[in-house]
Amino acid sequence: MDLKNLHFVFVFFAAIGCCAGQQPSLVNGIMGGTVTLRILNPPSPFPSILNAIWATSHGGQRVSVASSITGIVKFDPTYDSRAALNITTGSLQINKLTPKDSGTYDVTLIFTDGSMLTEQTVLKVYEPVAAVSVTANVTSAVEFNDTVSLTCSAQGSDLYFQWFNGSSQITPNDRVSLTNGNGTLTISSVRRYDQGPLICTVRNVFMSQSANITLDVSFGPENILVTATPQIKLQTTGSNVTLNCSAQSRPAASFSWAVNGTALKDVGPVYKLDNVAADKSGNYTCWAYNSKTQRYTASQTVQLTILEKISNTKIVGPSTPLIAGNSSANLTCQTKSGSLNTMEWLKDGKPLVPSSSVTVSADKMSLFISSVQRTDQGEYQCKVTNPVSTDTASYRMTVTYGPDKAHVEGVGAVEVGASVHLDCVVESAPGCNFSWTFNGTTKDVTSPKYVITSTAYSDTGIYACQARNVVTGMTAKSLPHMLAVKEKGTLPEPLSGGSIAGIIIGVLVAIILITIIAKCLMKRRNSHLDMCAGSSKTIERIESPY
Ligand SMILES: *[C@@H]1O[C@H](CO)[C@@H](O)[C@H](O)[C@H]1NC(C)=O
Ligand SMILES: *[C@@H]1O[C@H](CO)[C@@H](O)[C@H](O)[C@H]1NC(C)=O
Ligand SMILES: *[C@@H]1O[C@H](CO)[C@@H](O)[C@H](O)[C@H]1NC(C)=O
Ligand SMILES: *[C@@H]1O[C@H](CO)[C@@H](O)[C@H](O)[C@H]1NC(C)=O
Ligand SMILES: *[C@@H]1O[C@H](CO)[C@@H](O)[C@H](O)[C@H]1NC(C)=O
Ligand SMILES: *[C@@H]1O[C@H](CO)[C@@H](O)[C@H](O)[C@H]1NC(C)=O
Ligand SMILES: *[C@@H]1O[C@H](CO)[C@@H](O)[C@H](O)[C@H]1NC(C)=O
Repeated sequence: MDLKNLHFVFVFFAAIGCCAGQQPSLVNGIMGGTVTLRILNPPSPFPSILNAIWATSHGGQRVSVASSITGIVKFDPTYDSRAALNITTGSLQINKLTPKDSGTYDVTLIFTDGSMLTEQTVLKVYEPVAAVSVTANVTSAVEFNDTVSLTCSAQGSDLYFQWFNGSSQITPNDRVSLTNGNGTLTISSVRRYDQGPLICTVRNVFMSQSANITLDVSFGPENILVTATPQIKLQTTGSNVTLNCSAQSRPAASFSWAVNGTALKDVGPVYKLDNVAADKSGNYTCWAYNSKTQRYTASQTVQLTILEKISNTKIVGPSTPLIAGNSSANLTCQTKSGSLNTMEWLKDGKPLVPSSSVTVSADKMSLFISSVQRTDQGEYQCKVTNPVSTDTASYRMTVTYGPDKAHVEGVGAVEVGASVHLDCVVESAPGCNFSWTFNGTTKDVTSPKYVITSTAYSDTGIYACQARNVVTGMTAKSLPHMLAVKEKGTLPEPLSGGSIAGIIIGVLVAIILITIIAKCLMKRRNSHLDMCAGSSKTIERIESPY
């Protein structure tokens, strides 16, 4: 009841001379229910009631609801059998309320002591909240695309509406508006979390009732994810690889695949690659499709690399013997299969260091030695590596050289009958064929050792050896070696006085030599002096097996 009505009531009663200055009381009732309209300001003590009248107006027509005049109680037909008048307290009870019962009720009491009381009560009869229902104008919405309008309908009087998404109340924002007395909820650019359940709660003073609806909001596909099993994107030929695709989507997405941008026939979330060949390498993409949102979304690309293991690696080298200082050598590393290979050359287990004469081709496939030296001899390896394997091939390089600097080693004098061993010393690879001459005559000796088991005087003379390397085709001749066969007792015994002196001199000479060599080495640190070059030379001594 607003102020305007109150004012009207006030004016009305002021006009009929009652209730001046009094506020009417407000009483709420519910349809079908019961209310009791009481005397609010009873006099105290309360005298006996002589006459009592409750009246209201229906459609401008004044109705005497109930009256008790000198003990005779009467009811208006519209209230008969559902109203009761208490003549002790003056209160009026109305049962089975109808909306029509709403209105202003005046009571006038006349007491036996002659005094009088008038009061006014405003009754409002509410209809209960009933038949609450929610309808949406879109049954299947697409996220971001659709605007959904929800209407909450209900029966009852003085209704007000509230909307909830789950337990949180919905308030208007840039996407959500409430219209039609909050009975209509409009959600534009609907989102997946708008699906609800969306609850409409309808209230009036007496009660509340709710109804809800769940929206079908389609979304996605999003977050397309491809996982490879095994996880390693690098695989050896023959392995089994499974790609698995997932996506966030409602309804569930359907999947298809592409490799290097070309669609594959295979569909479904799982793409199996069994016993893969190297040509299955590529960039794999999964496509997800949602038939409701009609959106296609691609996954990140998965780069799969399938490599063959390297096998049958070998080094092809020169087939003719290499002669130091005169041959060149070309070693080529060959491998049967594998890709993404890297090559490395090793010599005697260590990485090969190229030099002016040792070069590795740009593709590292071949190694070229322009002028083979003795030091180039050794074990060459070519190590081929790709991300899934390593294979190594070896090649033994033999360098032939010499013979150089043949000379005869042995005693210069011997007592008759003693044995003599003469050695032909030469630097050569491979070993040489030897021949010996005595006084210019070729002897029947072909070993590097010339042995006379028991010397005769006639063995005195000049010995010389000649060495021939059959591979290099070169020969070397020693300088003549003089052997004198002497009478017994003419040569000093081993460890005689003379030999002791010899040992002492030998030791002194050795000390002097060591001192010179030490000085020499120190000088060599500063300048390279040729006088010491000989000390670093290796001498290969060719000897017979005994
Ligand atoms: C649903 O109602 C909203 C708001 O009135 C309107 O924009 C939208 O087009 C309606 N959707 C359909 C499918 O009628
Ligand atoms: C509609 O709801 C808002 C809050 O969301 C409230 O402030 C407003 O009074 C309500 N209007 C009616 C007519 O109930
Ligand atoms: C796959 O993708 C990588 C990097 O994106 C690219 O370098 C490569 O060339 C692609 N491979 C193919 C076969 O397209
Ligand atoms: C959603 O909206 C976009 C852009 O307006 C449109 O291209 C697309 O076709 C719509 N999708 C559906 C399923 O209506
Ligand atoms: C090198 O080989 C050539 C031709 O085979 C030959 O004439 C020459 O004598 C050789 N030189 C040496 C040092 O072996
Ligand atoms: C070594 O041999 C390979 C294979 O035969 C060849 O390609 C390369 O040119 C050769 N290198 C030289 C320096 O001759
Ligand atoms: C060998 O030559 C030496 C010196 O030239 C000579 O003394 C000796 O008699 C010769 N021996 C023989 C067997 O000819």
